[in-house]
Amino acid sequence: MLYRKMGKTGEKVSILGMGCMRLPTLGSYDRIDGVNASKLLDHALDRGINYLDTAYPYHGLSNSEGGASEVFLGEYFSENDRRDEIYLSTKLPTWLLKEEKDMDKYLDEQLKRLKTDQIDFYLLHSLKEKNWFHLDILGILEFLDSVRSDGRVKYVGFSSHDETGFFKEVVDSYKWDMCMIQYNYLDENIQAGKEGLRYAVDQGLGVAVMEPLKGGVLAQHIPPAVKNIWDNSPVQRKPAEWALRYLWNMPEISTVLSGMTTLDQLVENLQSAEDGIPHSLTSEEREVMEEVKTVYQDKIVAECSRCGYCMPCPSGINIPHCLSYLNQAKMLEDDSEVKSQYYFMLKDTERAGNCLECGLCQELCSQKLPIMELLKNVKKVFGN
Ligand SMILES: NC(=O)c1ccc[n+]([C@@H]2O[C@H](COP(=O)([O-])OP(=O)(O)OC[C@H]3O[C@@H](n4cnc5c(N)ncnc54)[C@H](OP(=O)(O)O)[C@@H]3O)[C@@H](O)[C@H]2O)c1
Repeated sequence: MLYRKMGKTGEKVSILGMGCMRLPTLGSYDRIDGVNASKLLDHALDRGINYLDTAYPYHGLSNSEGGASEVFLGEYFSENDRRDEIYLSTKLPTWLLKEEKDMDKYLDEQLKRLKTDQIDFYLLHSLKEKNWFHLDILGILEFLDSVRSDGRVKYVGFSSHDETGFFKEVVDSYKWDMCMIQYNYLDENIQAGKEGLRYAVDQGLGVAVMEPLKGGVLAQHIPPAVKNIWDNSPVQRKPAEWALRYLWNMPEISTVLSGMTTLDQLVENLQSAEDGIPHSLTSEEREVMEEVKTVYQDKIVAECSRCGYCMPCPSGINIPHCLSYLNQAKMLEDDSEVKSQYYFMLKDTERAGNCLECGLCQELCSQKLPIMELLKNVKKVFGN
């Protein structure tokens, strides 16, 4: 495993980190398959991954309550002696903070759930311009000072899906150790983007990347036009490897978090990480990637990262899945297989035809997508 410094902290983090938002489950998202998830973590740690990222709501059915991810990690580390091998990162659910005492309440609850007395990297989760003022009034930056000095937290950071301007304002507002941004070869000019990445690095922040495979879209269901480019490239790599190598090619990035659900995915990404050296892609390889970018950018209609912030939909629609099927149908020349999957995989209530246009999803969407219009498009393509 290769390691890079997490900004000015100087801590050496593995270039591949484990995102614990997509662990294997037993049918329902809130029921982690403990046996297989433990095997994944055992293998990840054995192979030198030392950065695990979770958050209060991960593997829960709603963003307003604690999910199963932190609890699972707490149990995992209480059953072995490996807590000291890793940097544990989790996040304060900023959208749930109503009054000042809530900050301590959630942190203390998270420490209990994780069965640890210190969180290595504690992030303000999903900062948005519209709640930043409220958090400031609550005294969130003073809270960060206090949790560092009382030792409950070692380093502090934030994650955000908001625009570059706001991202820079947040970077300037505190002595952060790191930040987490969405970055992949299709998303260089949205959210913090390349400009935000460089800005943060210039201020000494470490950068953890989330959604490097755009939630899996860049690794699976590859459109034929893209597959054709990969197949004719001078170097043969799997799509996920191309996407990850693109990020590791950038020295600004400290660690790339992938949400690996199966052992095969973990093994493949670990293998890719062996060559994750800055500036290691040749100009010819970068040109191949530019070609692929153009093809994708022309085909994707819903730039959904499957973060799930739009869920649960009051009408029961599985919005991320509907949008994913829409993209697949648009990207593939023959969409009959996608159509049958749409009907096979989604229950009646989960399909786009149930949309009542309440608009809640659009307010919550981290990518600011026009979800109501997109669901109409899904209905048009699939008939329901
Ligand atoms: N702070 C925030 O607001 C925020 C938001 C999002 C994510 N995050 C963090 O960032 C982490 C990474 O984001 P992400 O989970 O979206 O990562 P990602 O790597 O973009 O997507 C993960 C998905 O990609 C697929 N995948 C991974 N490796 C693969 C391979 N080698 N071949 C084929 N498919 C592969 C899997 O899809 P399938 O499951 O479909 O097989 C997996 O669930 C999260 O787990 C979470 O810890 C933070």
